[in-house]
Order: sequence, then C-alpha cells, then structure tokens
Amino acid sequence: MEIFHLSAECYPMAKVGGLADVVGALPKYQTNAGHQVRVVVPCYDTKFRKENEFECVHWGNVKLGNFDFPFSVLKETSDKLGYELYLIEIKELFDRPNVYGYDDDIERFLSFQIASLDWILARGEVPAIINCHDHHTGVVPFLIKYAYKYASLQNVKTVITIHNGLYQGWFGFDKLYYLPEFDLRHVGFLEWNNSINSLAVGVKCAHAVTTVSPSYLNEINYAANGLESLFNSVRNKSNGILNGIDIEVWDPSKDKMLEYHYSIENFELGKQKNKEKLCEQFDLDPDKPLFSFIGRLFEEKGGDLLPQASALSLSENFENINILILGSGNSEIESQLTQLRNDYKGNYNVFIGYNEELAHLIYAGSDYILMPSRVEPCGLNQMYAMRYGTVPIVRRTGGLRDTVIDFGDEGNGICHDQASVGDICYSINRAVKLYDDKISFNTVLKRGMTADHSWERVCQEYIEIYNLIIEKNEI
Ligand code: GLC
Repeated sequence: MEIFHLSAECYPMAKVGGLADVVGALPKYQTNAGHQVRVVVPCYDTKFRKENEFECVHWGNVKLGNFDFPFSVLKETSDKLGYELYLIEIKELFDRPNVYGYDDDIERFLSFQIASLDWILARGEVPAIINCHDHHTGVVPFLIKYAYKYASLQNVKTVITIHNGLYQGWFGFDKLYYLPEFDLRHVGFLEWNNSINSLAVGVKCAHAVTTVSPSYLNEINYAANGLESLFNSVRNKSNGILNGIDIEVWDPSKDKMLEYHYSIENFELGKQKNKEKLCEQFDLDPDKPLFSFIGRLFEEKGGDLLPQASALSLSENFENINILILGSGNSEIESQLTQLRNDYKGNYNVFIGYNEELAHLIYAGSDYILMPSRVEPCGLNQMYAMRYGTVPIVRRTGGLRDTVIDFGDEGNGICHDQASVGDICYSINRAVKLYDDKISFNTVLKRGMTADHSWERVCQEYIEIYNLIIEKNEI
C-alpha cells in the first residue's frame, strides 16, 4: 500500500529528539515489507539538506489566510535512506537552522501541512494511509475530512502517532482563517478549551491513534496536559505500539561512529577500549563505573534532578564513580551542571550540546545510562544503551516501564518509582554494588544486549492497524 508519513523531524535530515529516529527508521522497514513509503518533512537549513542532492518534483503556492507562500517539493535523489524522502521547501518559513522555537511556529507548521496536502492532491493518486506524527501534523486528518479542496482525498485513512502529548500546538480562533475553507458544521473538532488544539484535532479526527508504548497509552488517561478525557473517549481507536530501534544504525559490531567494535562475544574488551577513549576525552577514571545521561535537559526528562543527584552521588561515592552528561536544554540546568565540573574534577564532566557521534561513544563506553524521566512516552536511549551493553537505570514510566525490568526480578536494568533525587541516588548505590559483582553485572548486561527491539516486528503492528482502518472504511 502507499503510505505517507508527515512529520516535523526525520533522522538524518533533521533531529531534535526520538521522533526523528522513529520517522527515520519505521519507513525503511515498511518499505522492506513491500510498501511504497514516502516521508515528508519541512526543508530546514540543515547539514543533510546542504550535503545531499534533491530534485524538484512539484511547486505551488500555499495559502495561509491572506498570506501566500511559494513552495517546492524536493525529492532526495539517492536511494540510501531506504525510503523516499520529500522536503517541503517554503523559504520564508523554513530556511532557518532550527526545527522549532520560532514565534511563527504555528504559521510554519500549518503551511507545511497545507502544502503537503496540496501536493498529495495534485499528484492525482490517492494514498491509502497518511500517518501523522505529533501535533505539528495534527490538523491534517481534519483537513482531509472537511476542507472542500481536499474532497478527493476523503478516502485516505489517517493515523496520528503520539510521541509526546505534552506539546499540543495551541492557537487562537483568530487564526481560524488560516485554514482552507471547510464545512463549518464541523468547527467543533478544532476546539479544546476555547482554543484550536492541533493535537486534539488529530486525535479526534484520525481513524486511529497510536502511542509509542502501551504504558504511555494508559498514562495519558490521567496525565496528558489537559487532554485526559479526550484520550479516554478515543480508547476504542487507540493502540500502544512500542517503538523499535534501527538495528542497522545501532550495532556495536559495525557502528560507523565507533573506533572499537564489539559484540556479545567480546563485549568486555570492546567496551573497555571505548570507555578508555571516552574517559580520556573527558578526564574521567576508566577503572570506576561510568554513569551517563544523554538527552534534553528538561524537567520532563528529570533533567532538573541531575545536578543534585550527581553532586550527592559523587560526594557519597567520591572514590567510586564517574558521571558524564551530554545534553542541552534549560539554561539554569545547563549552568548548574557546568558548575559541578569544578567540584568533582576527574570524576564528573558535561558536554552541553547535541553530538550524535559522541552519543554513540557514550553508549559504547559507559556502564550505566541514567533515565530519571518524569514522562517518557517510549524512550529510545534505554534500548540503544542495552544493545551496546550499557545497563539502564530508569524511573518506571511509559516506555521505560515496558522495556526495563529491575535486576532484582531477573531483569535487564535498575528501576525506581519516584522522579526524585533520593530515588536516583539509591539506584546509583545499587548499581555500584552490582558493578562490583562482575558475574551478576555481566548477566544483567547480556540480557539487555540480546533483547530484540528491532523494527521488523513492530512495523507489522502498524500495518495491521492500517489494514484494520482500511477494512472498516469509515469516512
Ligand atoms: C519523544 C518521546 C520519547 C519517544 C520519542 C520517539 O521524543 O519523548 O519518549 O521515545 O518521542 O517516539
């Protein structure tokens, strides 16, 4: 079948978080399974855009109320991604270095959605499925159903996949005129709490809703930033599908970003070499267990707990541990973490920023990965870490609950229940003890390394949902 994925991010074209990894991998496996898969993302001014070849396959004008923006659709010409990648180029709105964070984000992503549909309409072929991802593409299911100009796309079935329900893309009804003309009897689908809420629109209008883990599907019934009752009311069309990881990109035995490769057969030596390299780079002690954090430094990820939890754990275990942090986000957290460097020289370091290559080395060279998230719809880092023989220490929430089981229950990691400094420190203490018992530590580590988190099976679950809504054939 022909499947479109519409998203704000797609690795390697544009990545802020895990959304990019999923949209950069799932389509590849759907293509391998015999489907025609096209991924559509905005054309930001990224390294990938500059370094790759594209051909223009369509152009037009996107109308946003009184504004008119010329747009082009650019197709990536090599076959290297394993699926077809299309960029919506709207120079005025997207020719900028960042994906998000501009005052006109609402205008940017509405234009992206309208331009994408204009192009899909102009092709003349009607795809079977449009899979939208997060609020940036949430208005698409509504437009397909009710905007007059897309009437010939009415048979397309839509899915909205929720990677993060906290961000919802609200805007006022004063911007209602941005939308192409639609049947006004349905204006209620746009509304949530007196605003237009893009995520709510998608959830109401899509034929199916998916979340990126089964536990997250349960959690959004009582914690979804105001949309709890909505999620409750759509339970019968909702499914939680745990993300996979791209095991071709994430493979310690042939990872292009690593100097020292290893597998389950020789992980002790391989990890040690990576650890030595990493420790040298960050002035850490390779003879002590290394706890790392990779991710965005926000409360959602428990980033605010890291400075205190690091300081406490380091002072209690001064001779015994190293902590390394890679991330960026809240500037207050960034500066607290940077300051800690002076107090714990030789045992602690931080790299503020985003660096894909360093992330790979950290997965390979660390003993533990810390994920104290308050909210974690799926979480990919724990799966990358396990594949690289790094034991995850997680708060039981969302996808972390679905993928990590405490070693006390013969599992593959260390779990705690509260998003608190105390719980993190307690887990670190347990981890230090486990690390000293090499046989038990290696048993836990190997359980992680051998787990199957590949996309092949997961990809089939998406196809089943697509087939189900196609069979039902509800408008
Ligand atoms: C978001 C979520 C994360 C999830 C990712 C991919 O970034 O916060 O938990 O793994 O999307 O679905």
